[in-house]
Order: sequence, then structure tokens, then C-alpha cells
Amino acid sequence: MSGQGLFIAFEGGDGAGKSTQVRLLAAALESLGREVVVTRQPGGTPLGAEIRDLVLHGNHVSPRAEALLFAADKAHHVDQLIRPAMDRGAVVVTDRYTDSSVAYQGAGRDLGAVEVHDLQMWAVDSLVPDLTVIVDISAEEGRSRRGEVHDRLESEADTFHEAIRHHFLAMAQGSPERYLVVDGTLPSDEIHAAVMGRLTSSGLLDGGAA
Ligand code: TYD
Repeated sequence: MSGQGLFIAFEGGDGAGKSTQVRLLAAALESLGREVVVTRQPGGTPLGAEIRDLVLHGNHVSPRAEALLFAADKAHHVDQLIRPAMDRGAVVVTDRYTDSSVAYQGAGRDLGAVEVHDLQMWAVDSLVPDLTVIVDISAEEGRSRRGEVHDRLESEADTFHEAIRHHFLAMAQGSPERYLVVDGTLPSDEIHAAVMGRLTSSGLLDGGAA
């Protein structure tokens, strides 16, 4: 399903520390001789950057429009950046992917997890990560880490963020072979070690060195 490359997604609540883990993993994989493409959603392409501005920093966006904008970002992103990178054998590491939409728009916005999942799968032409790492933190911890500056979604109430957290955990429980859940309150080097341990033990790093 994923060509010759490897596709790893980091998911979790706002303030969970995903971006640090993305950086640590990219550096570790590069030192193993792999080509690594780091990206984030929404964003990662010029069109994606415009969608990101509209959906995170613009005025009110109605929930269905929000779901469609996030889906449009992913459709373009997969087609323009992720698939081509995987086709040439690279490891793609993304900060957020389709599970963010299922959790934020499906559960957080009450649009229905199944409907949003189906929309997302259509958008990405069914490209599923080889591994999704959920960096898990409570809504309260996330809020205190984010400080005073909030985008449109971050400024939602703790109940919204708790619903999202539980949705991420439920997705991981439903498909344990495709997920790793790590405690986001652990030191970042321990989280990174857990991610590397899982990639090694599952054989996902075998045979792909440049
Ligand atoms: P993120 O890039 O993690 O924000 P930051 O750079 O501020 O840490 O994510 C942006 C926000 O977009 C985040 O609140 C989650 C939300 N989001 C969705 O609601 N649906 C999606 O499909 C994606 C990818 C993100």
C-alpha cells in the first residue's frame, strides 16, 4: 500500500510534544542512511500553507467546511509530496495525519467519526501510515504547555480536547499493530527510544538503507 518507502505519523493533542519527536526521529533515521522527508498537516505544501491559515487563523469556519478544508489539504499533500517521496524510497514523517481529522472534526466537532474517516480515506486515496505514534497527554497538561497563545482549535474547551484524546486512544486500541501509544509526560529521549524500539522490533527499518 505504501510503495517502497516508509510512512510514519505522529498524532496527539495540542502541546503533546509531537514536533520534538518528529525532529528526533528524522535525525535518527538520517543517521541510519535513510532519506527522510518531514512534513506537517495542515501545511507542508504551498496550497497547504494557505489552507492552514484559513482554517487555523481565519474567522469562524463552519464544521463541515472545516472538515473539507482539512481533507483538501491532505489530498493535495499526499499526491504532491508524500506519495512521490515514498515512491523513491524515502521515509516520510508527518506531524499529524488523517487521525487528527477523525478525532478533531469527527469527535470534537460531532460530525461523526465514521463519516470523517471515510472522507479522509477518499482524500488520501487510502494511504495509511505504516506506524502511527500517539503522543498522549491530558487536556489539562496540554493547555498548561500551550501557554497563552491559541489558534482556533487550541482555544476550544478542555472537554473538546478530552474527547479528542479518548478518540486517539480508541483508534490505537482498535488496531494495535499499526499504533504505538506513548506517555507524553515522559522525557523526550525516553519517548524517542520507545519509538525507535517499536520501529526496530516490528522490522519496519529492515532493508531500506540508502
Ligand atoms: P498543529 O500543527 O499540531 O498545531 P501547532 O503547530 O499549533 O502545534 O495542528 C494544528 C491544529 O489543526 C491542531 O489543533 C489540530 C488541528 N487539525 C484538525 O483539526 N484536523 C486535521 O485534520 C489536522 C491535520 C489538524
